[in-house]
Parts: sequence; structure tokens; C-alpha cells
Amino acid sequence: MARSFCVRLDCGACGKPVESEQLHNLSPCCGKPLLARYDLDAAREQVTGTDLSSLFSPVDSLWRYRALLPKVDDANVTSLGEGRTPLLSGRTTAERVGLENIWLKDEGQNPTGTFKARGMSLAVSRARQLGALSLSVPTAGNAGGALAAYAARARLAATVAMPKDAPEANKAEVRAHGAELIEVDGLINDCGALLKERAQTTGAFDVSTLKEPYRLEGKKTMGYELWEHLSGRLPDVIVYPTGGGTGLIGMWKAFDELEALGLIGPERPRMMAVQAEGCAPIVQAFHAGASSAEPWVGAKTMAGGLRVPQAIGDFLILEAVRKSAGGAVAVSDHAIVQAQGAVARDEGLLVAPEAAATLAGLERLIADGKVAHDEETVLFVTGSGLKHLV
Ligand SMILES: Cc1ncc(COP(=O)(O)O)c(C=O)c1O
Ligand SMILES: [Zn+2]
Repeated sequence: MARSFCVRLDCGACGKPVESEQLHNLSPCCGKPLLARYDLDAAREQVTGTDLSSLFSPVDSLWRYRALLPKVDDANVTSLGEGRTPLLSGRTTAERVGLENIWLKDEGQNPTGTFKARGMSLAVSRARQLGALSLSVPTAGNAGGALAAYAARARLAATVAMPKDAPEANKAEVRAHGAELIEVDGLINDCGALLKERAQTTGAFDVSTLKEPYRLEGKKTMGYELWEHLSGRLPDVIVYPTGGGTGLIGMWKAFDELEALGLIGPERPRMMAVQAEGCAPIVQAFHAGASSAEPWVGAKTMAGGLRVPQAIGDFLILEAVRKSAGGAVAVSDHAIVQAQGAVARDEGLLVAPEAAATLAGLERLIADGKVAHDEETVLFVTGSGLKHLV
């Protein structure tokens, strides 16, 4: 087994440590997300100057960062080549909106067409390592497709619950991979409640985002990749479409780890959370100065991944946004559709509505004077538009 510097899990709320070599959902102390912790002093000793070859492996997937991921035996690594997605220049978009430099991190090139592949590769690998036989996930659609694919590859059983109005492509991919699909007349939180009830008889392990610790570890690799693509720097601004917020929290964690490894200083990108006007609990909490969000009532948006009325990691999202001197902004479905068309025409990228929301959000932030023309900005294009054509 390749070396991992992972040593334990900590409660994300109170910091109390938990032994990591057994299956866990939320922390037993506070019922909050668990965070994987590493012996970064020992890892730092592997780094000589800017030569990372002894820390990062030459594998062309996110498993390149295996030393900074949880322990998984080779036989349990479940990979479809996820991660290592391109950072594309958004030159035409930058000219149009009046910024000097925009990058598009094209997560649509992941297996299953979205960044959900990153988290599921880690969650499924770890669940397999720790002996789970059956997994379940509530989803807006994309996480369900990713779980179905990775569970198939790991030869594990999977159950996916998604709102019945989720994209047909998501339902089709779940069925194609042989997972059980439950369509729910409700939102992602209703799907979660249903699966929790069923787990009492099925014993399926719940891999809901942030309700197990490893999807976060998969998504944090987006932060490492940004740093590598930009030759050891980070951008000024990151714009991220926020539902459960796993990617935003994960990147924030990755930056702290890079600093502990001596690879960056204390400066951080300003983290901008974009939500839909029809479901914006984090934006509301940010403007209210609150440290956690109130559940959003009557959530409605065409960007299904942003239709998350209550995020278990709300306090972690808000902390990252505030500590980074970032912001939170809500955009209309109309602005999302406009942005989707603009990226397709200007950049040759067919993007998911959630991904297009980042451009709509950036335009708002520029108009409000929150992002200046000389700030290097990365938009997270979290998914392909190919699942949304019909
Ligand atoms: C394409 C896409 N973008 C963004 C999100 C939101 O992701 P997160 O839970 O990391 O906030 C989702 C979640 O379903 C998604 O499918
Ligand atoms: Zn705790």
C-alpha cells in the first residue's frame, strides 16, 4: 500500500478526535461532519524545495495525492481516472465581463461528467476498505450517478434516492450501473430521511455528502490541482456553486494543508459561494452575519445541485467564506440560462446549470464591486451540460 499520512478523524465542530479505521458517519460528540487529519510534519519532511516527487505519485488521477488522502489498500482503490481536469483559460469571457484573467476548472471532464466522481472515488474506496457491502446516497442527481458507477466498479450494492424531477440522464445512469433507484416526491433532504429510515433494516452505509468524511477528501484535491496548475500559486478569487458546499470546504482544507506542508504562505483566495435565488440559505446567513444557516422553505431552482435547503456543513462554508474575506451571492434561474448560453458560445463548453451559475454570480460580484478587474479568478465548472440536453 502506498504511504498515507492520515492519522485520525476530528469532529469538525469541537475538534474531538475519533479513531479512523472504522466506518463513521457524523461525529458521535456533536453530530457534525468529521474531518480527516494528517501528520503533516512527517509529510513535510518528504518535500525538498519545490520537488514534490517523493510526496505526489506520478499517477494521472487524483490518486496522485494519495499521501494526503486516507489509507486505502491497492486492492480497494476504486478509480475511473477521476481528477486532473484541465484549467482552461476563459479569455473571451474575461474580455466580455471586463476581467484580466478568468480560468475555468473543467470538472465536466471527470468520469460520470461531474466533480461528484472525485468524492465518490474516495468514499467508495474507503467504505470498501472498511468492509461495507452496501451503500446508499440521497442526491440531486449527479452524486447518485457517480455512486452507481463507483459502486459497480467496486462490486458493491448501491441504492440511490433522488427527486422524481431530477434529470432523466441521472436516473438512466443509476439504472445502467445496476444500482437501485428510488424516485422521491420531494427534495434531497426528503431523500435523505427516507434512506435513513430504510437503513435500519438494510444496514446500507450512508455516503451523503459530509455525513461521511471521505467525499470531502476527494473534493479537496481540486485545491491541490489549482495550486499545481498555477505552478505553486493560488488565484485571487474562487467562485464555487454551493449546494452542500463540499468542494468549497474541501478546497479550504487543502489550502490549510498546503500551508502546513510549507508549500504556500498564509494568503488565501477569496472564496465566493454562489447559490440560486430560489434556494439561498448560505447567502442569507452570510448577509445576516450568522454562523449557521436557517433551513430554506420552498426551495425551487432549475440548478438541482443548488437545491439544498439545509447543508450539514453550513458552519464550515460560512467560516471559509468569512475567513477568506470572500462573499456569497444568489443568482436567478434566468441569469443561469443566459450564462449557460454565453459559456457555450464563447468558450466551447457545454456546462451544467450549477456550473453556469458561477459565471452569473461573477457578473453580479463585478457589478457590485466585489471583484476587481485585475483579480485572477477561477470559476468551478462542476459538471457537463450533456446530462441536461433533454
Ligand atoms: C454540477 C453540480 N455543481 C455543484 C453542486 C453543488 O455541490 P456541493 O455539494 O459541493 O456544494 C452539485 C451538487 O449536486 C452539482 O451536481
Ligand atoms: Zn464534537
